[in-house]
Amino acid sequence: MKDERLVCDRFPRSSKYHPDWAIAAASSGANALWLTEWLAEALDLRPQMRVLDLGCGLAMSSIFLRREYGVQVWATDLWFDAANNLQRIRDAGVDDGVYPIHADARSLPFAPQFFDAVVSIDSFVYYGTDDLYLNYLARFLKPGGVLGVTDHVGNDGANNAQLHRIPKHFLFEDAKEAGFVVDGESDVLAHAADDHTKVVFDPTLRGKTDQFVVRLRKPK
Ligand SMILES: C[S@@+](CC[C@H](N)C(=O)[O-])C[C@H]1O[C@@H](n2cnc3c(N)ncnc32)[C@H](O)[C@@H]1O
Repeated sequence: MKDERLVCDRFPRSSKYHPDWAIAAASSGANALWLTEWLAEALDLRPQMRVLDLGCGLAMSSIFLRREYGVQVWATDLWFDAANNLQRIRDAGVDDGVYPIHADARSLPFAPQFFDAVVSIDSFVYYGTDDLYLNYLARFLKPGGVLGVTDHVGNDGANNAQLHRIPKHFLFEDAKEAGFVVDGESDVLAHAADDHTKVVFDPTLRGKTDQFVVRLRKPK
């Protein structure tokens, strides 16, 4: 019998991948392929564009972006080993266009205005909550470049760092301060049953946290 855990009409590209591969490589338990597919469409990714996959974990999203959209991806992560990611990238047959980088998102080894797009999937909470972080990140995008962020929704006043969450309006405020225009949003992984009070790894929530997905544009 066909395994249909990832099959969804809204995400035809993700539906082609075997759920075991996607789930084994997803650190948060959310459907990272669906998030990646939404971001890729929303960011209008085209072949050979330069994409920074920030906090890429096991590089599943990077592999997917290369395979499905033909973009060049700098798969950048701090906790996961770049050599292991290279092996995974080779196994997937996309080492011609996915480059594993070991780096801290707060100290990136790239030239200014190098990227057409940046994606941050379930990782922004670990490096992006400083008020000035988006000012820093913006410098790596070309004018007109886009940043797609998805993370777990937090509540005002809660210990969001401990819960691994971000109140969405914090991101919007920082984005505007940094000169980004918020020009896209989706409820693709909204979960009304999540009241944002539990840590995102809670077994009752795994894969069912309320997530925001937004597109920010750096003006030309
Ligand atoms: C929950 S995982 C998400 C991984 C992947 N994007 C996914 O959706 O499966 C968070 C990732 O953020 C990365 N991370 C945390 N702090 C970081 C930093 N300062 N710079 C770069 N990556 C960081 C971790 O290494 C981890 O892989």
